[in-house]
Amino acid sequence: MKYPSRVKLVDVGPRDGLQNEKSPVPAAVKIELVHRLQDAGLREIEVTSFVSPKWVPQMADAAEVMAGIQRKPGVRYSVLTPNMKGFEAAVSPPRELWPDEIVVFAAASEAFSQRNINCSIAESIERFQPVVEAARANNIHVRGAISCTVGCPYEGDIAPGRVEMVARLLKGIGVQHIGIADTIGVGTPLKVQRAMEAGLKHFDINDVSGHFHDTYGQALSNTLVCLEMGVWQFDTSSAGLGGCPYAKGATGNVATEDVVYLLQGMGIETGIDLDKLIDAGKFISDYLERKPNSRAATALLNKRMN
Ligand code: HMG
Ligand code: MG
Repeated sequence: MKYPSRVKLVDVGPRDGLQNEKSPVPAAVKIELVHRLQDAGLREIEVTSFVSPKWVPQMADAAEVMAGIQRKPGVRYSVLTPNMKGFEAAVSPPRELWPDEIVVFAAASEAFSQRNINCSIAESIERFQPVVEAARANNIHVRGAISCTVGCPYEGDIAPGRVEMVARLLKGIGVQHIGIADTIGVGTPLKVQRAMEAGLKHFDINDVSGHFHDTYGQALSNTLVCLEMGVWQFDTSSAGLGGCPYAKGATGNVATEDVVYLLQGMGIETGIDLDKLIDAGKFISDYLERKPNSRAATALLNKRMN
């Protein structure tokens, strides 16, 4: 079996991880988390979302967080922008505060699209089109997330053909990279493989990533099957933080610590210092007064104490 020799992890903890927290997390804490993640060697961090504060109050401080980060050369900072209003807010400050990448987020399920972004899949593509054009005209990289690629909390199983259709539509409007998301963590390896293959019909292997929530404990297996396909980019969340406000009961993304431990054990390069990463996860978990939701972090923290 030939695995990629190098993997890029995008830590989505500050965004996907924190968006669902009930009590407001101060901007300073989010900024500190970003700083710790970049110091641990993360080369891409999904920082925040420019979405309606009525829908996702936790992300209301998006501009403040973006302005407060001391950027590290070589790190890509991404944000979610579902429409022109969000994009304009992301690029209203001076250029040095702009995101390097924006994420438009579609779904392979009509019901989820309606609940998450209040429009149909077709309408979402229409809304994204000017956002993608404006971003690319300004040299901002564009990623598209596809939610519910194997299962939907409202529609149940999702056929790979739906994923292929949304991937084709996103490609058609100029999206440069797609993330195949298992929003509610119901996927198992063969289903995830089929969803990934559907995305790969329209995007190159270098332009796809896996985004696996770990609700059913399958995310590491799903990551492994994608590695076997040659996929080398994954979204992961520090300390396994998170969940989506429109996917009740779904837990966070697979913990960055667990994926780094897996990759290190396989001799795959990530550029990430696991000890510093564990400290970053512990920092935010301590703030939230809970234990890191990562088996590897828990084991290594226990080992430190003995
Ligand atoms: P809408 O209500 O259809 O939009 O929301 P609208 O254009 O009719 O505007 C309604 C109000 O929202 C107006 O304010 C707008 O100004 C405001 P009002 O006049 O009522 O005071 N508004 C905004 N405010 C700030 N920023 C904006 C913005 N747009 C409109 N960008 C919208 C449409 C998409 C904005 C809304 O549905 C929304 O914000 N949804 C939240 C979506 C979200 O953040 N979901 C979680 C992230 S996605 C995710 O977690 C999945 C992912 O991880 C992959 C996976 O795991 O599946 C990526
Ligand atoms: Mg997600």
